[in-house]
Amino acid sequence: MQIIIVDDKQQVAITAAKWVAKNIHKKVNPVLGLAAGSTPIPLYQQLIKMYQAGLISFKNITSFNLDEYLGLSTKSKQSYRHFMNINLFNYIDIEKSKTHFPTCDQGQDARSQGLLYEDKIQRAGGVGLQVLGIGTNGHIGFNEPKSSLDSRTRVAALTQQTLADNSRLFKQDEFQPSFAMTMGIATILDARCILLMATGKNKAQAVNSMINGSLSTQCPASALQQHKNTVIVLDKAAASMLDK
Ligand code: F6R
Repeated sequence: MQIIIVDDKQQVAITAAKWVAKNIHKKVNPVLGLAAGSTPIPLYQQLIKMYQAGLISFKNITSFNLDEYLGLSTKSKQSYRHFMNINLFNYIDIEKSKTHFPTCDQGQDARSQGLLYEDKIQRAGGVGLQVLGIGTNGHIGFNEPKSSLDSRTRVAALTQQTLADNSRLFKQDEFQPSFAMTMGIATILDARCILLMATGKNKAQAVNSMINGSLSTQCPASALQQHKNTVIVLDKAAASMLDK
């Protein structure tokens, strides 16, 4: 793991954007793995700026998001599809037909949908760069503690901690899904390069477990210790509990 510590979340975004740009430039048809959530928003804003300045293009890019809530319509403002549209896709030249989310609509067989997503990723050539955030409980994607390190794209239940963390994004009377379809830990580890960002003091404990803890399903992000090409970009607050 390469660990980069910078001052604040703006610097995290600038550093991460350089990695994304490098990956885009390197390949003719790059495949990006993308994350939703608050952490990557400054990165996406940075990428939009770079696109507007003519420094990068997303024309040839295929993307695979890590996860999607279950039980919401694709038109829901709470879906990760909507999140990606309003935070990135609507402002760049990516072809929306080449942006993918793991979904399992009502009546579909979850196992086949999972296999289908894995297959789509493989047929696109595999993920070149996977962007990740981390949950306060160490989750990556929606692979919550105790998820198997061999897990693949599937339906997963969200823990009480994750539901509580994400409740800030839902109005009081709004439906908050407690299940999601997520890439598995093994799916994430297949990416050729992984870029995990963490910002804020509330991530400090999970970040320390990921980097210095034992490789354990208790902290799903610790699985990244096994990956040969992972870069972790932290602000000072998220790095504040790293064992000295
Ligand atoms: C989002 C995802 C999650 C988030 C994590 C951190 O697609 O897979 O693992 O990265 O929950 O969320 P934020 O960035 O909102 O703190």
